[in-house]
Amino acid sequence: MSIVPKKRSVKRPKKVPTHRLFIDGKWVASHSGQTFEGVNPATLEVIGRFQQGDKQDARAAIDAAEKAFPVWSGYPAPRRGEVLLKLAELLRKEKEQLARIVTTEMGKPISEGRGDVQEAIDITEYMAGEGRRLFGHTTPSELRDKFCMTVRRPFGVCTLITPWNFPTAIPAWKLMPALICGNSVVFKPSSDTPLCATRMVELCEKAGVPAGVVNMVTGPGGEVGEELIKSIKTRVVSFTGHRSTGKRILELAAPNLKRVGLEMGSKNAIIVMDDADLNLAVDGIIWGGYGTTGQRCTAASRVIVHKAVKEKLIRALLMRIKKLRLGQGLSASTDVGPLVNEPAIQKVHGYTQIGLKQGAKLLCGGKPAKTAGPGFFYEPTLFTNVAPDMRIAQEEIFGPTVSIIEGKNLRELIDICNGVEYGLVNAVYTSSMKAAFNVIEKVDTGLTYINSSTIGSEVHLPFGGSKQSGNTREAGIEGIHEFSETKTVYFDYSGRLQKAQIEAAELKKQEQKRKGQKRKGKK
Ligand code: UN1
Repeated sequence: MSIVPKKRSVKRPKKVPTHRLFIDGKWVASHSGQTFEGVNPATLEVIGRFQQGDKQDARAAIDAAEKAFPVWSGYPAPRRGEVLLKLAELLRKEKEQLARIVTTEMGKPISEGRGDVQEAIDITEYMAGEGRRLFGHTTPSELRDKFCMTVRRPFGVCTLITPWNFPTAIPAWKLMPALICGNSVVFKPSSDTPLCATRMVELCEKAGVPAGVVNMVTGPGGEVGEELIKSIKTRVVSFTGHRSTGKRILELAAPNLKRVGLEMGSKNAIIVMDDADLNLAVDGIIWGGYGTTGQRCTAASRVIVHKAVKEKLIRALLMRIKKLRLGQGLSASTDVGPLVNEPAIQKVHGYTQIGLKQGAKLLCGGKPAKTAGPGFFYEPTLFTNVAPDMRIAQEEIFGPTVSIIEGKNLRELIDICNGVEYGLVNAVYTSSMKAAFNVIEKVDTGLTYINSSTIGSEVHLPFGGSKQSGNTREAGIEGIHEFSETKTVYFDYSGRLQKAQIEAAELKKQEQKRKGQKRKGKK
């Protein structure tokens, strides 16, 4: 069990296209002139060269965004919505091509690649509609002849730092609300999926987003990302990725008091009660645990099962896992694609060894899947006899590894579920309403699914976690709140100075006096 996957060599076709940065409406080479290669994780073929941006590129992009901000925020919001609607139409037209790029670049099966792009289309349409809402509130004043309301205003330049696991959906979750609110952006995509990012930005340009409103700089997070976060000119940082990076971003953003939205890791659980429909639960565990090769922040890496049904559940799971077909995502018969890169497979295998060392029992998998192809394939892995405090039950693995943990009653299952540092999502399979509502109320997560897996959020509902999973909610109306701030407006049409608090008390006093006089008059 000590197989450490060997370093692999990549295949370079004769012609490899070189892609560029997008700054101020122009496709440009990086300041350094350096490039890096993008590799298909299933075949290890080089699919493109991308610019290795640096601080100077980041600064140029910020300046372009700053210059474009008054232009874009000056568009009436419904007009911005029209541009987004056009973008949604273009994304829809390109859906199949984009999905193939998603699969080629990060490995997920093509059906999931299509889902990724569909999510991008959905949020684009949703946010286009927000152009005719962007609602504030109106409320009465405590004073006469005074009108009170709130309006939403964009921040200015926003930094968007996105991961590779949803290379079109997650950038769209950030980009679309940022744009509809009237912000300009600098987008720094993951170096594992720069081609998806490039295509999306090309479509923004085609849809009529003005020059400088969307800028894209590829390159190392440590250099490009840090500059985008530290600059006084960027007002918002929206990040999805690893917790350690999120913490670093908060520190870097603190001196300038930026608005920082973080979506980070998790250790999500599916609770299976003794009254659950086990077939349904197995479907949910297979999808949540092994879909996207476990590389979702919403992946179900823990199954917390009532001990009365544990053995039955394990038998059913093993039968289903055996049937999972690993392979290249572009092949229609593939259920599970590769991991994204070499460090990922090293990490996942490292956790297999940690699990064994700490006394968990390996039921299947636990090694690289060599027959699936030359890429980063790893066998769907299932552990049982996992104690809640073992590292494989506490730490995010981001791979196809599921741990079975048993408990004796609902209360214990909920406690185990809550006994991790993270809190993005959980699910419960049960036929009891009482159990379901207890889980909704007592489990500390941002999302709870009843009788459905941990994955499958929809764009018109908020998404985000509690505890160390994050500090924000994205998508839905909360996406608008992430990228706009509230201005409170007091409109006094009394024609004289009215003093809040003071005058209100005065008015009340006069009122009481008048009432007193009336009473006296009656007597
Ligand atoms: C993520 O893994 O970072 O519910 C986001 C889901 C998707 C979003 C996942 N709609 O799994």
